[in-house]
Amino acid sequence: MSGKSGGESLIIDGGVRLEGEVAVSGAKNAALPIMAACLLAEGPVCLAGVPWLRDVATLTAVLQRLGVSVQGDRRGRVRLETVDHAPTQASYPLVRRMRASFCVLGPLLARRRHAVVALPGGCTIGHRPVDLHLAGLAQLGAEIKLQRGYVVARAPRLRGAELNLCGPRGPSVTGTANLLCAATLARGRTVIQGAAREPELVDLAKFLNALGARIAGIGTSTLEVVGVKQLAADRQLAADGYRIIPDRIEAATLLIAAAITGGRVGVTGIVADHLGAVRQVLHEAGVEVRWQEGRAQVGGQSAVRGFAVDALPYPGLPTDVQPLLVALACVAQGRSLIGDTVFPQRWRHVAELVRMGACIQRAGSAVVVTGTGTGMMAGSPQNRLQGAPVVGSDLRATAALVLAGLAAAGRTSVGGIHHLDRGYDHLDQKLNQLGARVANQTGVSLGVRCSS
Ligand code: UD1
Repeated sequence: MSGKSGGESLIIDGGVRLEGEVAVSGAKNAALPIMAACLLAEGPVCLAGVPWLRDVATLTAVLQRLGVSVQGDRRGRVRLETVDHAPTQASYPLVRRMRASFCVLGPLLARRRHAVVALPGGCTIGHRPVDLHLAGLAQLGAEIKLQRGYVVARAPRLRGAELNLCGPRGPSVTGTANLLCAATLARGRTVIQGAAREPELVDLAKFLNALGARIAGIGTSTLEVVGVKQLAADRQLAADGYRIIPDRIEAATLLIAAAITGGRVGVTGIVADHLGAVRQVLHEAGVEVRWQEGRAQVGGQSAVRGFAVDALPYPGLPTDVQPLLVALACVAQGRSLIGDTVFPQRWRHVAELVRMGACIQRAGSAVVVTGTGTGMMAGSPQNRLQGAPVVGSDLRATAALVLAGLAAAGRTSVGGIHHLDRGYDHLDQKLNQLGARVANQTGVSLGVRCSS
């Protein structure tokens, strides 16, 4: 682990056009539920392309306490094997660090018939209930109680049922992950209507099928699962490892970093199909991107224009990209209207961007951003965003401030970088590789080793 505390900052000297080539890492939001799903498997499972992140280290700690041996190496290979099926409790000190720890609930209940998992609690990006997870598990036959901040779930054996996972703000991503995992070992057939269709869930479903699960409808909003008696990796899979898909949010971050600095950057290791909504909004903003197999090349645009977009469940624009686009809109010509239907309260980055000279007004669950018009950084320093000390409040809000710092005149110090450490694999190094001037006060690059 890099051992950083919340008080440390990235110091960014803005105004450099990024240039070069950079590769994206494996997807955090696929790696986490897939690692949690390893609780379902008999024998060893090997994963490849696991990103080097604090969230991965946190989940590793959760799984180790649940009797799973986890061994990782620097190249993103992680071997997981349950060596003790007795523990069933995921405690609050770990779960509160990362909501995705809640993804152990479905696998634990299905495989060990009993699970005690802390409720994840509050979150800075808005209200994040888990009612859909719990209602679905109850429909699968689990007895669920809430006791002293913990979900206590019990089921001699789950049984298939018809579930609907669509909440008031669309389907739940981790809810779908929890119920999909639970259904794989349930008796009979489960139909999950209103399932989330995010590529990370498609990856989870393919992984479960590779272990012997019987899931149909993958990638659609209706998943059909026929329960099986046990899941295990065959010899081939145990040896080769299941490869995690590339991180589409990291890809979007790097593409927007290139665009916000007027740079020319090739982002490699991407799946363009996963980035459809990002592609559309960048096009509307006038950002020139050439999309090729596994690669996107940004560069050559004459200006970034204002745009209108709303964050929606997949295949809509990911809410995790919304703060990054707000940063881009700050330097665009004209006005942008950016909404967030998934997390309507996710605007904590706005006040910090305003401290850098951005002109942003809240309008319900949206913001109106009047850009400086200096997307290519051709404007005089007076017209640009101004470097300032700012503090990130969550993962993507902090990334948005880093992007703004890259475009700003002068020096920006971004506090709260422990948030970045949770979800970006060496972002500072990757930006510096493209010519950015990003200094990490600790001298340690962001990202942590998956502890074994
Ligand atoms: C996941 C992602 C997160 C992303 C989010 C939305 C992981 C580890 N995290 O979070 O990065 O920002 O999807 O794409 O994959 N809801 C309910 N009841 C529930 C659950 C959710 O009403 O039981 C609501 C939430 O308040 C929110 C919406 O549904 O408005 C989507 O939340 P959800 O998809 O569950 O987010 P996460 O899975 O926690």
